Amino acid sequence: MILPKTIAMGRNLVIFLILLLFAGCMRQQQRQLVIGISQLGDADAWRKEMKAEMDRELVFNPDLRIIYRQAGYNSQTQVQQIRELVKKKIDLLIVSPNEASPLTPIIDSVYKSGIPVITVDRNINSGSYTSFIGADNIEVGRLAGTYAADFLGQKGSIIEITGLQSSTPARQREKGFADAMAAFPQINVQVIRGDWLEGSVQQQLPALTDQLRNTQLIFAHNDVMANTAATICRQLGFPGIRIIGVDAQPGTGLTFVEHKTLLASVLYPTGGGEAIRAAARILHKQEVPKRDFLRTIIVDSTNVVMLQQQFNKVIAQQKDIVRQDLLLKSQAKTFRTQKNLIGVLLGTLILLLMLACLLIYLRRKNIRAYKLLRTQNNEIRSQSEQLNEMAQQIQEATEQKLNFFTNVSHELKTPLTLILAPAEEALRNTRTPAYLRESFSLIRKNASRLLLLVNQLMDFRKLELNKMTLRVQETDLVLFVNELLQSFEGLARQRNIDCRLLTRETRLMCWIDFEKMEKVLFNVFSNAFKFTPDGGHVHVTLEPDGQTALIKVADSGTGLSNEEKERLFELFYQGNVRNQNGSGVGLALSKELVELHKGTIHVESEKHRGAVFVIALPLGDAWLQAPGVLKADPSGYQPHMPAWVESFQMEHSAAPVTLQEVPDTAAQQDRTGSILVVEDNDDLRRFLTEQLQGTYHIITAKNGSEGIRKAFEEFPDLVLSDIMMPDTDGLQLTNVLKADIRTAHIPIVLLTAKTTDDNRLEGLRTNADAYLVKPFRIDVLEQTIRGLLQNRQHLKTHLTTAIPKEVQPAGGKSEKRFLADFNAVIEKNLANEHFSVQDLCRELGLSKIQLYRKVKPSLQMGVNEYILNQRIQKARYLIRQGGLSFAEIAYQTGFSSPSYFSTSFKKITGETPKAYKDQFGSIW
Ligand code: FRU
Repeated sequence: MILPKTIAMGRNLVIFLILLLFAGCMRQQQRQLVIGISQLGDADAWRKEMKAEMDRELVFNPDLRIIYRQAGYNSQTQVQQIRELVKKKIDLLIVSPNEASPLTPIIDSVYKSGIPVITVDRNINSGSYTSFIGADNIEVGRLAGTYAADFLGQKGSIIEITGLQSSTPARQREKGFADAMAAFPQINVQVIRGDWLEGSVQQQLPALTDQLRNTQLIFAHNDVMANTAATICRQLGFPGIRIIGVDAQPGTGLTFVEHKTLLASVLYPTGGGEAIRAAARILHKQEVPKRDFLRTIIVDSTNVVMLQQQFNKVIAQQKDIVRQDLLLKSQAKTFRTQKNLIGVLLGTLILLLMLACLLIYLRRKNIRAYKLLRTQNNEIRSQSEQLNEMAQQIQEATEQKLNFFTNVSHELKTPLTLILAPAEEALRNTRTPAYLRESFSLIRKNASRLLLLVNQLMDFRKLELNKMTLRVQETDLVLFVNELLQSFEGLARQRNIDCRLLTRETRLMCWIDFEKMEKVLFNVFSNAFKFTPDGGHVHVTLEPDGQTALIKVADSGTGLSNEEKERLFELFYQGNVRNQNGSGVGLALSKELVELHKGTIHVESEKHRGAVFVIALPLGDAWLQAPGVLKADPSGYQPHMPAWVESFQMEHSAAPVTLQEVPDTAAQQDRTGSILVVEDNDDLRRFLTEQLQGTYHIITAKNGSEGIRKAFEEFPDLVLSDIMMPDTDGLQLTNVLKADIRTAHIPIVLLTAKTTDDNRLEGLRTNADAYLVKPFRIDVLEQTIRGLLQNRQHLKTHLTTAIPKEVQPAGGKSEKRFLADFNAVIEKNLANEHFSVQDLCRELGLSKIQLYRKVKPSLQMGVNEYILNQRIQKARYLIRQGGLSFAEIAYQTGFSSPSYFSTSFKKITGETPKAYKDQFGSIW
């Protein structure tokens, strides 16, 4: 705002000063009046004097400027020069015409064109001039005649040498002289026609020698011709002839008279000064007379000295005037320069003053603005401090709330386990009355939902605190996605939803954290199922795309609006339709977890056209360098169906909840081993004991140290221990037992409510065999225990070639024999890659159905799966034996290729043959 105004002021100031200076210069350059001067010629002294007089007079008229031309005594030249002067736009013409007749027409036309004309000395034939300046030539002739008659005593002979006849002074002087002579009849006058110049005298006078003898006096019309006549007379021997001239100018006529070369001379003033003065008057519109006759006198020996002195004085004065004029002019020039300088200085000074004022004004304005800004700044700073303080308070309050919430969530887990487990137990129990089943089902469903929510929120909390680490393993996504999708099979069947994994890949290896990616896929799958109507489809495609693996989950649901698409992954976003029953946590958590994997997730959808969730995960292991990413010990992962899957299935199944009756296996089975349960929580210890005592012999301990003592007393088949316990905790217990050769082989399962990855990792480093996070499902626990005991037993079997203990049914000897035969046939054919169930049936003499009926209860798995297990167990044995390459072992155990062997080995054992070879020594 200030600046443009200031610039405008400065600009105006500069313009003002420029105009001021310009006006000063204009005054200097007022137009001068131009006088054209046409001189007939200027070789003689008289005309030189005329020019000098003009110049002197011009000194006093600085507004006049002259353009001077001389015609070299030629009338034609003079006419031409006058024309040229007129073309130069002269304001006035001063002319001394050479001859009257040739010059009259041009001067006539100049005068008639409106240009004032001053004729000097000689005149024209017409009256076309403004003013004539010069002496009266008739008077000049008369004066000379009278003086001559007087000198001669009124008698004698005179020769008269005239000027140029065509010029007016010659005619007038002749007339004046004749007029004077008329009174003296005794004086004889002979006329010679001269032309003002010495040549005409030199040509004619010597021819008149005879006449000269009788001549006493010569009258020449000017001093030039008079002096020439004197010289010739002396040369011809007539020094006594006295001569009278005209002009009497210093340096010529006056000197001749002074030196007595001439008797006398008639003063003939040039009129140069008078002509300039008259011109100035005319140009300044003042009156001048038409004829201005200049005074004339006879100069002879009586007055020549005095006149000479007067002339000298005048000349000296005039020189002084010229000098002073020059001085004046130079001073005037200096004055003008100084005046201009002063003007410029003054202008600059004014400019500086104005700029100074401007600066002061701006500075004041700046100071005011600065003060205002400072005040505003202070206000802003104090407001920002207040805001910071408030933000800090809010953050602290939020932290406290979140901490409180986290602690409460931790605390919720154990009670939730204790709600879920009896509910599940009651549902499994066939004796539970039908009217209670629905209530238990409801309890289980809601407790599961609550747990899911608590778990997801705690995961978010961990993400927020940057405490979540990835424990990645190189995983076959085809197997992984397929396995998880199968969890939804029952639900898909119930709701007639076409649920399929579509992929051309047989194998797609990718580094992922199983557990976290399981949560992601579960969330995305369950979201798809939630919004797909009965009879719709959920298609999962899996394909590599450059450096990423793409998992696309396409549903035929209601689709999403643009707003829903944009906000779907926001925490606690409850969309119009899609999330109306959800907590708004699942997808937000999924996005964070995918991003932890350096992947992306987005949704493509149009309203009513279904939705496609696209998850892109990086292939290769370059991204594992990122902070918070650890390579997990492959043996630590225990695949299981996530607890939430069942709750989800129950919630979204179309049919009412009906549970399969679960046979009470505990009642049917012998106790197959002993388990040491180490748990400080009395309820949980009691619950675990109740759950497991049907199958196993249970030994209990209330804390870690009691657990260690009892382990060494009883040597149980497996230890189930809590981690968080007073005194000695579960990790210390694991360390002690795994370090002792007597107890190192005992599998240890750790239980805890702590879910941070650091704790989990710590647990695994102690060589615990499994790790279950509370709340766990009792059947998952049972399966884990069974798996660990079975693995130990399988190993033992193949190291001792005994029949696995759990494959021995409680039945009679014939059954045992049958199983021995069954195993023998398999053992015999292990190296045969084409060995099939049909071959087995043929060798045992049984149909397929008979075989399945006989062996299913004992094997608890399919026959093919059992054969594969046996191949792997044999392979493990051969690896331990050493001495064979993996390719040789592959062919000896019936695998068609080493790569198929390796894949199968990993699928069954969770690790590659090489990893097994490197590590087997450490766990047995
Ligand atoms: C100079 C002059 C003078 C004379 C005058 C007459 O040129 O010859 O000597 O008086 O001209 O015009």
